[in-house]
Amino acid sequence: MWQTAIEAAMKTIRQNIEQHPGLFPHITENQRYDWGGNGDWIEGFYTGLMWLAYEYSGDAVFKKSASDLLSNFEDRLVRHHGLDHHDIGFLYSLSAVAEWQITGNPQAKELALQAADKLLARYRPNFGAIQAWGLEGDPENGGRIIIDCLLNLPLLYWAYEQTEDRRYYEIAVKHANKSLRFLVRGDGSSYHTFYFDQENGNALRGGTHQGYQDGSTWTRGQSWGVYGFALSYRYTKDPVYLDASKRLAKYFIAHLPEDHVAYWDFDVQVEAGTPRDSSASSITACGILELLEWMEPNDPDRELFQTALDNMMRSLVANYSTKDLPEAEGLIQHGSYHVRGNRGPDDYMIWGDYYYLEALVRMEKGIKGYW
Ligand code: GLY
Repeated sequence: MWQTAIEAAMKTIRQNIEQHPGLFPHITENQRYDWGGNGDWIEGFYTGLMWLAYEYSGDAVFKKSASDLLSNFEDRLVRHHGLDHHDIGFLYSLSAVAEWQITGNPQAKELALQAADKLLARYRPNFGAIQAWGLEGDPENGGRIIIDCLLNLPLLYWAYEQTEDRRYYEIAVKHANKSLRFLVRGDGSSYHTFYFDQENGNALRGGTHQGYQDGSTWTRGQSWGVYGFALSYRYTKDPVYLDASKRLAKYFIAHLPEDHVAYWDFDVQVEAGTPRDSSASSITACGILELLEWMEPNDPDRELFQTALDNMMRSLVANYSTKDLPEAEGLIQHGSYHVRGNRGPDDYMIWGDYYYLEALVRMEKGIKGYW
């Protein structure tokens, strides 16, 4: 079953490469990607997809198309174009780190280390975490962390492994600990964002940006937490991160609707037409795969997670994928970007495509992605 889905995904990726050479897919509302340059937080997912496709198939077309885009990421870093945010990890793990891991290209390694330095520079000692958005001192966002950042930490852990410079590791751990303390709630749900006083570091309040309301559990934020804490466990082996990932995953699973694919916020009232977020389910599937790798063989939660993974992925393939839509540009339908802001409330999301394929190739061939 997974193999057929992967083959269909490969066809779509190949078609996109042929039809939109050198361009990146961006969010729209019309079931077609908007193809353009490299200036948002999402471009790495496209090269990440190409690297997964290359690793799975060995087809040099995918390798070449991903490698050809490396200079684009390099130029972006040099010009500091659209990089006043923490998503430097999403961008450079799935382009430069991926290329270095697969080909050993030293230029890719150097670029990834420079990107890690840029991320490191967003650490704010006053509140002991990485600032998510905007410039230092920004009145609205200067003291703000967000749960998504957990997926940017692997770039720092990786940089530590390459250089043995402990600053990368220590800042990643400080950020993960702050996120655990202030973003994860007692019942296993999560805040999307949290505000600290920029001057004295005092904790102020939780909030949301893309969720239904402050205090609700934005579905994709929860999925970033599931996978993000599992990845911090991969690098640190600190059991508190494994435990956090499990708690978040259990909450996610317990709040799924009948078809096992989440609505966009766990606290939104569901009625006809309420948007889903298939991308959150793909991310959570990857998180559960990571969790299963680290859980003890006799852990009583194994069966719960294995069954949930199976149900989610079967539903994504059967009900959401474009495997029977040869002209489609995306791999899974019904993702959402920012429902309340009416930006991409129900469409293809390139990160949803990436994590969907990552989960499939990990289940089928043990290919793990580039975190
Ligand atoms: N990291 C941005 C998002 O998940 O929409």
